[in-house]
Order: sequence, then C-alpha cells, then structure tokens
Amino acid sequence: MNTAVIISGSGSNLQAFIDASQNGQLDARLAVVLSNRADAYGLQRAAHADIAAVTVDHRDYSRREDFDQAMLQALAPYAVDLIILAGFMRILTPVFISAYRGRLLNIHPSLLPKYPGLNTHQRALDAGDEEAGATVHFVTEELDGGPPILQASVPIVSGDDSTALAARVLEQEHRIYPAAAQWFAQGRLELSGATALLDGAPIPACGVRFQAQGASE
Ligand code: GRF
Repeated sequence: MNTAVIISGSGSNLQAFIDASQNGQLDARLAVVLSNRADAYGLQRAAHADIAAVTVDHRDYSRREDFDQAMLQALAPYAVDLIILAGFMRILTPVFISAYRGRLLNIHPSLLPKYPGLNTHQRALDAGDEEAGATVHFVTEELDGGPPILQASVPIVSGDDSTALAARVLEQEHRIYPAAAQWFAQGRLELSGATALLDGAPIPACGVRFQAQGASE
C-alpha cells in the first residue's frame, strides 16, 4: 500500500507511521511525505527514514483550489493508495478531497463529533469535560466532519492545562492512527457513501472505541 503522509509541523504522527511500518504493525510503504512548510520538522524525520519528501508552499498560490491542484501533481508520481493527513494545518477543497475520496484519512484531537476545528483541548477543559481524546476519520468536504473510524479517550485530571492534555491525547493518536491505517491496508475499511464500514458493517457514529490491548470492535 503506497502511502503518502501530509504534514505541516512536528510530524510525531508521521513518526508513529514510520515506526509502525518498520516494526511490522503496518503493512504500508511510506512513499512520500508532503509538507506545506519547508521548515516542518517532519521533513527531517522523513529524511532520516529515507522517505521521499516534497514541499508545496501554500503561500505560492492565491486560491486554495490551485494549491490543492499543485499537491495533486506533486503526489501523482507516487501512485498513492492512501493519504494520511497528520497535523496538516490547511483546509482542503473538493479539488483534492474528491480525487482521493475514500482513501483520505485525518486525525483530530477531540472526541468527534465534539469540538471540530481548533483549540480542542482548551475547549474540553473550559467545558468541564471529564475526558478528551482523538478520532481518526475519513475526510469529506465537511471540516472534521467525515465519518469517524477509531477513537481513543483519556481522562482529564485536576490541574490539567491544554499542554498537558494535548500530550496525553497525542500518545493515543500515535496508537490509533497506524491501527486505523492497518485496517485499510488489510482491506477491512472502506467509505461507502457517507458511511465508514469495517468488515462490511457500519462503524458507530463516534468510531470504534480503541481498546488498550489493541484495536478491536
Ligand atoms: C496532532 O494533535 C493532530 O491531531 C493535530 O495536529 C497535531 C499534529 O501533531 N491535527 P504532529 O505534527 O503529528 O506531531
């Protein structure tokens, strides 16, 4: 499975994919890492792992659609089967999304459908929630609104600030994202219309709940 990972920054989720594909937990070939920022630390992770890396700078394009088209062109030589958005901080248009519909995953640091958009951890704290988490989902035109696949939660503890909470959530991101991609690699996961299916059965609205011993239904 030729996989592209698209990043904007640190790329710790990218690192989780590199590790999972090297240690046999993910049957994927990381074909290319694409960043919209030339200074993204994730590009160094790609170089260390000998993965091709390209930068397409969104500031070179006045329209989002043109940026998306440029990314499609940059990816074209790699015959990509699956795209992993990993801390990619740009909003995609239908130009990109329709080209990879059903093969485009994102991870969002909240228990979707709660808190789409930014500042998820602070919003969870402000709301007095008892738990937070992360959700892997298919990408559709609705921002952070595509069908959830896999979700992990963490407790919110007294004294938490958004930094501490983000770190706790990120640890779970690194577990659930490669696990969801492995379902895809195994042919178990698909997007059918607006519904995510695992082994042919609809996934619940919040996604499959991740179990500590491994991902299971
Ligand atoms: C993660 O929290 C991800 O959920 C969010 O941005 C962060 C990216 O972190 N969309 P990294 O670049 O993978 O370290």
